[in-house]
Amino acid sequence: MSELIQIKDLNVHYPIRSGFFNRITDHVRAVDGVNFVIEEGKTYGLVGESGSGKSTTGKAIVGLEKVTSGQIIYKGQDITKASVRKGMNYNQDVQMIFQDSMSSLNPKKRIIDIIAEPIRNFERLSDQEEKKKVRGLLDIVGMPDDALYKYPHEFSGGQRQRIGVARAIATSPKLIVADEPVSALDLSVQAQVLNFMKRIQEEYKLSYLFISHDLGVVKHMCDNIAIMYHGRFVEIGSREDIYNNPQHIYTKRLLSAIPRIDVRNRDMHMEARRQVELEYQKAQNDYYDANGRVFDLTKLSDTHQVALKGGKA
Ligand SMILES: Nc1ncnc2c1ncn2[C@@H]1O[C@H](COP(=O)(O)OP(=O)(O)OP(=O)(O)O)[C@@H](O)[C@H]1O
Ligand SMILES: [Mg+2]
Repeated sequence: MSELIQIKDLNVHYPIRSGFFNRITDHVRAVDGVNFVIEEGKTYGLVGESGSGKSTTGKAIVGLEKVTSGQIIYKGQDITKASVRKGMNYNQDVQMIFQDSMSSLNPKKRIIDIIAEPIRNFERLSDQEEKKKVRGLLDIVGMPDDALYKYPHEFSGGQRQRIGVARAIATSPKLIVADEPVSALDLSVQAQVLNFMKRIQEEYKLSYLFISHDLGVVKHMCDNIAIMYHGRFVEIGSREDIYNNPQHIYTKRLLSAIPRIDVRNRDMHMEARRQVELEYQKAQNDYYDANGRVFDLTKLSDTHQVALKGGKA
């Protein structure tokens, strides 16, 4: 297994301004010291509730958000500086897919121009070559040729997300940061888009940073998962660690929030949920410090780490 990218003690803080002089009075610690590694060809899941810092982490990795402190190591180089990213075609290797395709795809542009745009930044193709390349990309995500000259609003949400995937893979990237790529879609369409993403991953040996607020969605996509709360990781582990052996109360809460289709066990599920809520109320102090901040992670095994008081599970 080889490492593609390493995130070391990443911090992204936003200034809060207030008062008559609009001075900076405080900071939001949107990302507050996180560490993780994404391996080649693997999917790393980043899960947490709204405002926990998932998108900020993703944007910092892609270079869309300024890093306050910490390092992002790619091919042995710290790419937190834009000049380093430029020097090594980082922006070609690392792409992003956004949740809301209606606003992330330019509504005034035709599909051919939307998908070709990232290619144009890196290579000069003739019109014919470009058309051929974009057709090929549309084909990979199961879209017909005649999509080329249409506009984003002429497609369904699922189709637009697939166009977003085609655009993201246009530069043959190594890593795609997928920020809630299916959250806006119906369940049946979600499965379809996720299947495309999986197939493309195998074909191109892609890595994903897969961001979601829902542990149900990431289950079948991710090899490793980090659970994020208020800019910190409360628990990281393999898929098995997180789903079969969760240790942090926040992880347990997220797991108990996954909707169950199985009607027979509904009562049991309700009871389990009540238990988790009870533990959450009772044991706050074991999980968060006096300021409500998440403790540092301690190692339980080679794959599994959890943030508990005094480091004990
Ligand atoms: N440009 C900004 N200026 C100031 N604060 C910001 C900015 N962007 C995000 N924040 C704050 O940083 C925190 C993390 O935001 P972020 O968008 O990363 O959360 P998220 O986990 O992606 O949430 P969601 O699930 O809603 O997308 C939030 O408290 C948010 O209000
Ligand atoms: Mg977000």
